[in-house]
Amino acid sequence: MAKKRLSISVQFLVILAIIMVLNGVVFYYMLKNVYQQELKAQAQTVVANVEAFGTWVANNGRVWVKDNPKSYLGKVSVVDPEFPSQAIHFYSKNPALAQREFSETVAASSSPAKFRMTSTNVMNPNNAPDSFERRALAAVGGNTLAEYFEVVGNDYRYAKPVYHNASCIACHGDASTAPADVIERYGRNNGFGFKEGDVAGIISVTIPQRNLFSGAVSVFGLIEVLAIGASVLLILWFVRQRIIVPVRTITSMAEKISKGESADVASIGIDSNSKNEIDQLTLATNRMATSFGLAMKKMNESRKAAQQAIRVAKTLKAQQGKE
Ligand code: HEC
Repeated sequence: MAKKRLSISVQFLVILAIIMVLNGVVFYYMLKNVYQQELKAQAQTVVANVEAFGTWVANNGRVWVKDNPKSYLGKVSVVDPEFPSQAIHFYSKNPALAQREFSETVAASSSPAKFRMTSTNVMNPNNAPDSFERRALAAVGGNTLAEYFEVVGNDYRYAKPVYHNASCIACHGDASTAPADVIERYGRNNGFGFKEGDVAGIISVTIPQRNLFSGAVSVFGLIEVLAIGASVLLILWFVRQRIIVPVRTITSMAEKISKGESADVASIGIDSNSKNEIDQLTLATNRMATSFGLAMKKMNESRKAAQQAIRVAKTLKAQQGKE
């Protein structure tokens, strides 16, 4: 059965399409990796800020606020002797409480990245872990993992463990030695029993992931699209100008030669040592045309000679007949 194949241009377009699709897939995954790393860096920044804020509170022991009885640990009232009837009340917030209020303030803000602190053994039931946080706590529980992250639905979720040091154990160690104001507010059942060096819990960060394609405009600007279009056109132009068009020309030459017609093979100006394959094909076709022409010339000459001989023979025969 004779092989019927598609034209080079069609084959080339098919291959080009496959290459573009493969490149597109690779590009998508590269973009996704970069984006994931970027989200991780964002989450790490959030954690660093939360830790820094906690450290700031811890370095001050507690922070004291005036006239904010919504949530606090301790309370002192100061009376100015000059105005004994007007006591001023100060309320204290420890690092975890201040961090939780920070977290609630961020949650209510326009910041896309949210965070909270949680633990396997929470002092405040409102800090109880969700299912991702339970997985993260289980993963970092062995004291070996420095961070844990997952993509949950549309969110990038990140967790970093926090460890108890001696100062933490004052409140999170034995409930019987914990400060009275902590016991008063949180009871003696939850959030205690930790030792120095234990995983206290995690700082859990949630960042909504943007769809890479809905944000395609920011990835592909006009210049990028034009550059891709231009490179495709460049490849198409090259294949057409340098392969398809010369092959067509040579084919029509060869066809003419095969019919014995005179063919003008444009080989003038081609260096016989040219490294270009099409040039070599043109030169070879030219040589073929020359040899073919010579052969035809010789054939015509022999034919003429033969006809001459026949004529001579006929004349001789006729003369013999007369004699
Ligand atoms: C002054 C007492 C005190 C000290 C010291 C203290 N915490 Fe807490 N911690 C608390 C209280 C009270 C809460 C609950 C705050 C709230 O209502 O969210 C808490 C909450 C937490 C939570 C959130 C989960 C939960 O139990 O509700 C983590 C994690 C935590 N603390 C870790 C630490 C670490 C680590 C240190 C030391 C760097 C530390 N804490 C020092 C009192 C303390």
